[in-house]
Amino acid sequence: MNGFWSYWVIILTSINIAGALWLLWTTSRKRPGDQGPSEETTGHTWDGDLSEYNNPLPRWWLWGFYASVIFGLGYLAFYPGLGNFAGRLGWTQENAWAADVALARKQSDFQLAHYDHMNLHTLRHDANAMRTARNLFANNCAACHGTDAHGSKGFPNLTDADWLHGGDPTAITTTITQGRVAVMPAWEAVIGPEGVEQVSSYVLALSGHPGDAQMQVQAKAGAEKFATVCAACHGADGRGNTALGAPNLTDNIWLYAGNVETIRETVGKGRNNQMPAHAAKLGATRVKLLTAYVLNLSGAPDEENEEPEANSLLEGSTHEPTNTAGTQAH
Ligand code: HEC
Ligand code: HEC
Repeated sequence: MNGFWSYWVIILTSINIAGALWLLWTTSRKRPGDQGPSEETTGHTWDGDLSEYNNPLPRWWLWGFYASVIFGLGYLAFYPGLGNFAGRLGWTQENAWAADVALARKQSDFQLAHYDHMNLHTLRHDANAMRTARNLFANNCAACHGTDAHGSKGFPNLTDADWLHGGDPTAITTTITQGRVAVMPAWEAVIGPEGVEQVSSYVLALSGHPGDAQMQVQAKAGAEKFATVCAACHGADGRGNTALGAPNLTDNIWLYAGNVETIRETVGKGRNNQMPAHAAKLGATRVKLLTAYVLNLSGAPDEENEEPEANSLLEGSTHEPTNTAGTQAH
């Protein structure tokens, strides 16, 4: 609120309070009813015989009004209400909200505390823990990765055991806590539109789509360019590099769709993708629960899984990658 509107509100509020007091004062001054209810009526008559007495307000009601004015003045002194004046207590909606959130967080931390000392292996097999993790995922991750974690264009599928940044527990924990920034540079200015078409054809060939004769010729030229400008990140064989977040280009699993137009767009204009950091928002226990959940989603083998009975638990149920279609975003 700027200065003018602040004063505007202050003046209007003050006039209203003063007006209410004046009204109460004038109506309570003349009290013919002090000797008992008067017989004087307002002169209005309804339905033939219903008339209205002209009595002053009962005392208790009047004091009720005075009390509410006093309450209002007290409220305005301590809480925000008078324009930009914040009130003596310094109360704000934001503070109140933050306090509520902190309280809810504390209660939830308390409920999750017994997961603190459990390792990933135990958590992955704990039905309650995984139910909690599924809720955490729905609240914090599903908006981008989808409720089923299958992702969409630009948002990786977390169920397919194909990783941009690595699918081992450490890599997943790092992704969730610190976030990831994946930069695919724009190449059009460097290798020209022709070069973009050539390497794009080569990328398609790498993933098993050699295309028509013209594309095969382009792909040949593209192979050389790929070796000089792309291999640094995507590897000489195009199998990617999780240390750089550079995807495997040979598996026909696409973050941005595997058609030639999309690939040309990615190569020519580049991509600048970001997974936000969640450490501060979630805290260690929730991150651990989510790591266990993502490991289960992708069917990652269980690290500490030495006991045969635990092994057989996993066998056939979660080992198979769920996305075998291969053409979906990953
Ligand atoms: C604002 C959108 C957004 C939210 C919210 C989000 N992510 Fe992501 N996440 C992404 C993007 C985008 C990427 C891909 C980054 C890249 O291209 O390298 C990603 C990547 C990942 C990866 C790495 C995948 C791989 O192939 O290496 C994991 C694991 C992951 N997210 C898990 C989560 C979890 C768990 C949560 C919830 C705590 C979450 N994400 C919340 C957008 C999001
Ligand atoms: C500096 C490292 C780097 C270089 C060099 C590089 N890339 Fe990439 N590339 C990436 C990263 C990182 C991504 C993932 C972007 C993301 O997660 O959004 C990517 C993504 C892609 C994709 C999208 C894959 C998908 O699944 O949708 C294609 C296609 C691609 N690169 C092709 C190329 C080609 C062709 C070249 C050479 C002209 C090249 N890249 C050079 C880092 C690089």
